[in-house]
Amino acid sequence: MLVIKGLNTHYGASHILQGVDLEVPDGRIIALLGRNGVGKSTTLRTVMGLVPPSGGSIELGGINIAGWRPHQVARAGVAYVPEGRLIFPDLTVIENIKVAERVPARAWPLPRLLALFPSLRERARNRGANLSGGEQQMLAIARALVSDPKVLLLDEPSQGLAPLVVRELAGVIRKLRDENVTILLVEQNMKLAEAVADELHVMVKGRMVYGATPERFRAEEQEIRSRYLTV
Ligand SMILES: Nc1ncnc2c1ncn2[C@@H]1O[C@H](COP(=O)(O)OP(=O)(O)OP(=O)(O)O)[C@@H](O)[C@H]1O
Ligand SMILES: [Mg+2]
Repeated sequence: MLVIKGLNTHYGASHILQGVDLEVPDGRIIALLGRNGVGKSTTLRTVMGLVPPSGGSIELGGINIAGWRPHQVARAGVAYVPEGRLIFPDLTVIENIKVAERVPARAWPLPRLLALFPSLRERARNRGANLSGGEQQMLAIARALVSDPKVLLLDEPSQGLAPLVVRELAGVIRKLRDENVTILLVEQNMKLAEAVADELHVMVKGRMVYGATPERFRAEEQEIRSRYLTV
């Protein structure tokens, strides 16, 4: 369980996160929505230790990891798939996964991973550069899983993917949910978020302003969209 309380982050003099409160219970998928520039990626980057928080706490399994360095956060059990995926273009699918494996994966050994991502299994020996955008995204997620994370942070996995591929991605994320993987998912694609998340939360200017189940979100979607999400 990841519990973020009163999280504040500055970039120099810019006060970006202004008291973020968010809980990601074990085995749940929590979606974080919001317009461009409200601080969604900054939230993930702060949890990961890539930006130091200026206040608040980030508890992972009851331990406050706020201010820890990225490698310590990773060791504590947080895996992060940034925007843009960043896989190794010259390594094959298998090599990309293997380099991320610190010790032999307990929860996610290669056969289990490849069973979850059939398109990667077919392309196991292809180089990263020769994968489609969707396959690269799947690979980035597979690579994050081999560290057996307690929580997985995904930053806009649907970005730049065709609708059909987004649907495939939704299927994969739903399978992860069935396997009890805990995910904090940042998304601009509301349909994807609605399809996979247990709760949807909306951020405005560095603060959480709304949170609901998908059912309730759907019922209130028109209003939430026009108030908080569309420009
Ligand atoms: N390294 C940085 N230095 C200074 N300001 C930054 C830095 N990174 C982001 N910002 C600013 O912080 C604010 C929040 O950025 P962030 O990337 O968290 O937004 P976001 O919600 O992820 O937006 P998007 O939907 O565009 O990805 C923005 O105003 C952005 O310009
Ligand atoms: Mg972002």
